[in-house]
Amino acid sequence: MKTYNVGIIGATGMVGQRFAVLLENHPWFKVKALAASPRSAGKTYAEAVGSRWLLEKPMPESMKDMVVMDATADIEKITAQVDFVFCAVDMKKDEIKALEEAYAKHECPVMSNNSAHRFTDDVPMIIPEINDDHLAIVEAQKARLGTKRGFISVKSNCSIQSYVPALHPLKKFGIKNVLACTYQAISGAGKTFDTWPEMVDNLIPYIGGEEEKSEKEPLKVWGEMKDGKIVPAETPCITTQCLRVPVSNGHFAAVFVSFENKPSKEEILQIWKEYKGVPQDLELPSAPKQFLNYFEEDNYPQAKLHRNLENGMAVSIGRLREDTQYDYKFVCLSHNTLRGAAGGAVEMAELYAAKGYFD
Ligand SMILES: NC(=O)c1ccc[n+]([C@@H]2O[C@H](COP(=O)([O-])OP(=O)(O)OC[C@H]3O[C@@H](n4cnc5c(N)ncnc54)[C@H](OP(=O)(O)O)[C@@H]3O)[C@@H](O)[C@H]2O)c1
Repeated sequence: MKTYNVGIIGATGMVGQRFAVLLENHPWFKVKALAASPRSAGKTYAEAVGSRWLLEKPMPESMKDMVVMDATADIEKITAQVDFVFCAVDMKKDEIKALEEAYAKHECPVMSNNSAHRFTDDVPMIIPEINDDHLAIVEAQKARLGTKRGFISVKSNCSIQSYVPALHPLKKFGIKNVLACTYQAISGAGKTFDTWPEMVDNLIPYIGGEEEKSEKEPLKVWGEMKDGKIVPAETPCITTQCLRVPVSNGHFAAVFVSFENKPSKEEILQIWKEYKGVPQDLELPSAPKQFLNYFEEDNYPQAKLHRNLENGMAVSIGRLREDTQYDYKFVCLSHNTLRGAAGGAVEMAELYAAKGYFD
């Protein structure tokens, strides 16, 4: 496989740091440019991050002395050095939209962790195991932007990355209604227990904007391509409640689901066991070998024990049983900053690379 030079925009932030660590020894992608705000520009990566390094793994040696560039002012310089960029920045939505389009218009594909473009109808929102067919919509986007190789692709919100994978292979039974309560880790807010001590021994029943994203985004992921747009699916009807819980990493969902044609428990378990997406067929470097993992033990999965399964890229499921109001209920877990953020974006980029979109 060919190798590609990549940039990390927002490299000093929490998701940016995850990108740095995930890409340190990546077989296909080599980090050549780091960028952040004007506050960090001109400093080495080590100086710019300073005491803000949040990961257990240390900052990659090879990046410590790289000089951080200004994501906006240095766009010409950055795009001249790389084949595509990963982007995770904390800016206003319209600023992020403009920044990402500017990179695309400089003929530099953008693999985005930001929400700004998630509902732009020719920007695909990719969960690689589920809707790889949506990659093709970037041709319509390139036509709109007037670019040859520049485009934007986003990944979905971290909250949906456990229950959408679990529900996806069951769509053939006609999913009617879904109720999902999410229990979301503090790293999803870019925090640790040191930076957010109020979360120790606490639970906050509100995460701004999260319930709307959790209900709407699955419908775009399950949408159809028509006339150069992704038209969101109309069903299933999804309702959610999203809670912040005192867990460092790993978002849980407690899911209730009803079907048009109710499958048996054995059928569901067999389908989960056998489910594979294109990333597994292509053996992408970040793809988990077993995407959906069911645990028989009543007290599994657990955040601490299972969030790092297959380098934090696998989805863990448990407690499937019949319900009195819905057909079934179950719980599921995925690592919010790996599968749910940087890892998911790296796997998405691997899919584009394998399909030749960066050439
Ligand atoms: N945390 C998660 O688990 C998660 C999951 C999915 C998606 N996301 C999304 O990813 C994005 C980043 O999240 P995060 O948690 O990594 O945030 P963060 O830790 O606050 O980092 C923000 C990054 O944005 C940069 N930035 C701020 N203003 C900028 C500007 N004017 N120009 C260029 N860069 C600028 C910062 O650079 P400086 O250091 O120079 O200020 C920093 O690198 C957000 O859109 C978030 O919604 C986060």
